Amino acid sequence: MKIVIINGSVRKGNTLAAIEAFSKGAEEKHEIEVIQADKLNIGFCMGCGACECHKGCVHTDDTNATIDKLVAADLIVFATPVYWWGMTAQTKLIMDKCYCRGAQLKGKKIGVLVPGGSPVDAVQYQLIKKQFECIEEYLSWDMLFFKPFYASGKDDIRNDAATVEELIQLGKSL
Ligand SMILES: Cc1cc2nc3c(=O)[nH]c(=O)nc-3n(C[C@H](O)[C@H](O)[C@H](O)COP(=O)(O)O)c2cc1C
Repeated sequence: MKIVIINGSVRKGNTLAAIEAFSKGAEEKHEIEVIQADKLNIGFCMGCGACECHKGCVHTDDTNATIDKLVAADLIVFATPVYWWGMTAQTKLIMDKCYCRGAQLKGKKIGVLVPGGSPVDAVQYQLIKKQFECIEEYLSWDMLFFKPFYASGKDDIRNDAATVEELIQLGKSL
């Protein structure tokens, strides 16, 4: 599979550690590309409707090239820390732009990795999961995994051998 991972975190902390461990497991069998969301120049969706959900975005920024990568992916992994009970703004910016070619993004396999500063039974993970489940239904996606992580310190995932191993095995299982 071609796996495209969206890293919705700026810092080299838990989300990156989760991505690295997952990739270590997956890279034997699959091609992996990581999109560093904060490095992209993507304007806000203006809701202009010119895209008609298939023509692409009118913005002459990184939007269309990014959506090209998502359209070409067999599996899209959204890796985002919890910010204010939701995904980060940079993740949401890409999510919003999926609207411009939603018709071409139908039927994708997706996965979600979500480190947060609270235990995994906290409501923020349910909120984020529900949001992805709604998008899954709308775009006929197939969510292969949704993994929340309790990681309040910057290196919590990197220093947690069991979690790292779990992520490696998750990548290998694909
Ligand atoms: C602006 C901001 C908002 C946050 N909001 C939440 C939150 O609502 N719930 C939560 O559990 N953690 C929250 N956190 C904690 C992060 O999700 C957590 O530290 C995560 O591991 C950070 O991932 P990173 O190291 O990849 O940046 C917040 C952190 C920041 C900086």
